[in-house]
Amino acid sequence: MRHTRIRGVGTYRPRRVVPNSEIVGRIDSTDEWIQTRSGIKTRRFAGDDETVQSMSVAASQVALERAGVSAYDIDCVIVATVSHLMQTPAVATLITEDLGATPAAAFDISAACAGFCYGLALASDMVRCETATNVLVIGVEKLSEITDPEDRGTAFIFADGAGAAVVGPSQQPGISPVVWGSDGSKYDYIRQIKSWDDVFTEDKPQWPNLHVAGNPVFRWASFEMAKVAKQALDLAEIGVEELDAFIPHQANMRITDAMARSLKLPDTVAIARDIADQGNTSAASVPLAMDRMLDEGAIKSGDRALLIAFGAGLAYAAQVVTIP
Ligand code: UT7
Repeated sequence: MRHTRIRGVGTYRPRRVVPNSEIVGRIDSTDEWIQTRSGIKTRRFAGDDETVQSMSVAASQVALERAGVSAYDIDCVIVATVSHLMQTPAVATLITEDLGATPAAAFDISAACAGFCYGLALASDMVRCETATNVLVIGVEKLSEITDPEDRGTAFIFADGAGAAVVGPSQQPGISPVVWGSDGSKYDYIRQIKSWDDVFTEDKPQWPNLHVAGNPVFRWASFEMAKVAKQALDLAEIGVEELDAFIPHQANMRITDAMARSLKLPDTVAIARDIADQGNTSAASVPLAMDRMLDEGAIKSGDRALLIAFGAGLAYAAQVVTIP
């Protein structure tokens, strides 16, 4: 079977920057509390014209250009999202059409914050098995539409954005086998507060926003995910000292720090901290964080990065990739 790699990444950050000061009034909080507990200073909220579809197309166009791949050469488009509010058809088909990649195969996956790393694993396996030559993987969220601005547990965390990566064949291994899994016994930790059925039987229908059991998720992620990250390094057959970067899902700066400590990452490993300015964008957070590190020169093409993402389900995935 052939090897695979990420050929290019691209992102879209919504125009509107929202500082903590805009959030705190409605949730009886403070800028200091939010920064200390989560590391978030500002986040981006999408406007009406910045949709899951349009943000994905914008991010993908950049990824395709950087990869040097035309839309015509994309065989499959995988969109990881939980915030496209039309359940069917898949938004991936619309994005594929907008990009000029029709008749590429196109489908959405629902793996929440783990979605991008799930998509990367699927794409890599498709290319390895020659089911496809180039696969476009998109992680995109407009979480502001499904977040209650008065909910103390989520209003300051969630945000919007899109990231895309082109996965294609390679001479050298550029995407390691994935370590992934789920734990449905914790299904209630992060979920919509109600189903659409419930909404329609209410006298005053209320939007089915997201609910997060913050502290249990925090403890699960801080302790369990470092083990998964270690397994991914083992599967890739590399030690932490051979890593150049650690790019975890941007859930909370303290979770990132806890995992970095647990992995005993040397100072030479650059750590993604995109959450400070971008908030938690679920499926979009890993490619957004990778792209920022490339932009800022914290990582360069050819570097090796450990990715790990985790969230609702609970679902998780980790792999080692070569930076495009
Ligand atoms: O992407 C996956 C999805 N979500 C996550 O990954 C979220 C993971 N969880 C977290 O990031 C953290 O649990 C939070 C940042 C949400 C909360 O941090 P924490 O350290 O787990 O705080 P806590 O829930 O244990 O609450 C500590 C205190 C409590 O007060 P007392 O009981 O100590 O007096 C809360 O009432 O902070 C209080 N509190 C707040 N204070 C100001 C809770 N929410 C807020 C708030 N502002 N928004």
